[in-house]
Amino acid sequence: MPVDIPMTTLADGTAMPLIGFGTSSLKGRAGCEAITNALHAGYRLVDTAAQYGNEAAVGEAIRTSGIDPEQVLVTTKIAGGDQGRGTTERGLRESLRRLGLERVFLTLIHWPNPSRGLALETWRELIELRDAGLTEHIGVSNFRPEQLQELIDATGVTPEVNQIQLSPALPRHSSVAFHREKGIVTEAWGPLGGREQLSDQFAVQKVAAKRGVSAAQVCLRWAVDQGIVAIPKASSAARQAANLDLTSIHLDDEDRRLLDSVDLGEERAWDSREHEEW
Ligand SMILES: NC(=O)c1ccc[n+]([C@@H]2O[C@H](COP(=O)([O-])OP(=O)(O)OC[C@H]3O[C@@H](n4cnc5c(N)ncnc54)[C@H](OP(=O)(O)O)[C@@H]3O)[C@@H](O)[C@H]2O)c1
Repeated sequence: MPVDIPMTTLADGTAMPLIGFGTSSLKGRAGCEAITNALHAGYRLVDTAAQYGNEAAVGEAIRTSGIDPEQVLVTTKIAGGDQGRGTTERGLRESLRRLGLERVFLTLIHWPNPSRGLALETWRELIELRDAGLTEHIGVSNFRPEQLQELIDATGVTPEVNQIQLSPALPRHSSVAFHREKGIVTEAWGPLGGREQLSDQFAVQKVAAKRGVSAAQVCLRWAVDQGIVAIPKASSAARQAANLDLTSIHLDDEDRRLLDSVDLGEERAWDSREHEEW
């Protein structure tokens, strides 16, 4: 890799970058160019989903980047409407067709969507699809600890990753602790806390000013220091590069105490017992 990206490991020992690139809303030609820039900046973990409508743009960016596709770790997600027996396989095969890939690095169940009760069947099928080689690793997104436990109890197979809404504004302590106990890698979506206006918070600005970096870089360093994978999305090359440039940033206890003060509480996170996506 051209830049030094900190790494974590999945339960089976596979290395995974702690900073990846989020792609939601990056579509079409402009989206493809932004994703290509990100690959050239050094990102090697790319997060997409059937629901984002941009898998073709991600595939095109990988093909035209000049980078060995084997070096690019793609995550996609099973959409709510594809959950269930047979439909999960069809959904993943459609994602692979749009991406132009034979397999992806990681496939996640996008949301548990409890009203349909299909998460467990979907998980069983993902286990088979991993065995069949269509996806190297499998996990979930937006699952609460009890929703994860249900999958584990029923199948004996623990999701390798849970991608959840997480930033200093929503530190998700109980989920992160549960993941650690089970050997699940925590991945943060919305890591810059834009929905929570996190960069306007005095505490974040104070740490950023003290360290001479941006609020975004403070949030990303905070996640990486906990072994949490963060997948910031940025359109411009300058922000993409800045979000990857964390090696010289060090947060101390005083910084972490300040960042603790912006915690809005678990109830402010989107609640996957009620929030569903299709
Ligand atoms: N699993 C799920 O349910 C789920 C849900 C939401 C998102 N995701 C994934 O997570 C990724 C990231 O989440 P997100 O896109 O919601 O939020 P995010 O990455 O926290 O924030 C993205 C926003 O921050 C801006 N930004 C990026 N870098 C910046 C910087 N250095 N300084 C100031 N602003 C900066 C971006 O602006 P510009 O683009 O204009 O640069 C964009 O408006 C998504 O792209 C998607 O892949 C997953």
